[in-house]
Amino acid sequence: MSTVYFNGEFMPLESARVSVLDRGFVFGDGVYEVIPVYAGCLFHAQEHLQRLANSLALIRLPNPMTLEEWEALCKDLVVRHSKGNQIIYIQVTRGAPEKREHVFPKDTAPTVFVMTSPLTPPTSYTGETAITHPDIRWQHCDIKSINLLANVLARQAAAEAGAAEALLIREGHLMEGSSSNVFIVENDMIKTPPKSNLILPGITRDVLLGVLAAANIPFQETELTEAQLRTAQEVWIASSTRELMPITKIDGIEVGDGRVGKHWQGAWELYQAHKQAVCQA
Ligand code: PDD
Repeated sequence: MSTVYFNGEFMPLESARVSVLDRGFVFGDGVYEVIPVYAGCLFHAQEHLQRLANSLALIRLPNPMTLEEWEALCKDLVVRHSKGNQIIYIQVTRGAPEKREHVFPKDTAPTVFVMTSPLTPPTSYTGETAITHPDIRWQHCDIKSINLLANVLARQAAAEAGAAEALLIREGHLMEGSSSNVFIVENDMIKTPPKSNLILPGITRDVLLGVLAAANIPFQETELTEAQLRTAQEVWIASSTRELMPITKIDGIEVGDGRVGKHWQGAWELYQAHKQAVCQA
């Protein structure tokens, strides 16, 4: 039985219960975070917890813990589970007031929930397929909001097309995946959309860019069009749960020569070496 943290206590997952008046339930009024754990080691926890702090600040919800307290809590939860790879999920909502009212409640404690589940990053990569999908999300995709309906609908469309991800297009521009950031290779140059309010500032993305920079591999953070996606040599997606994944078919059409590309291979090897260095994983 999995142990979770819920509002100040560790308990079995089955015992954690949230009120139907919780603002996460009635308004989607909350944020979340996802942190990978390799062999018991939290991978870039500070960056994830800082992003959580940023998301909370953007929705004007006071952070219930310091970064140090969050990290200690996550480590405590991790050691209560297997030593294998895990994925930590944190959710904070504006709590459960006595009545449903749009305006922020006064004197209501936030709801804080943390769980961990097994993480199995892929070990072999033969190339995944993706679809394109209109980006119908709001103007604050930089907040890791629990309002994921547009992402869920896009990802479901991908699943129904037998694809691993939906790549979101807003006004002719490639933004990101439904739950990942996106990279393309064009004329042997690695390119990814710049951070803005219209994409999530992915930690995997940032870690990868840091690793590329340290290896003197050039890249560009630049706006990308749908046309560039369709003529790219290589396309990759990046996230905490899927690491760096090559996409070899989009909307049924092969990317480049349809095979996993050499730039992806090089970037993936650097990323794995970085994981080893940080986590001995
Ligand atoms: N999603 N963009 C979106 C919309 C995401 O939901 C995610 C991650 C990313 C990648 O961020 P990171 O590298 O920090 O994981 C980009 C997580 C994994 C999720 O929703 O489960």
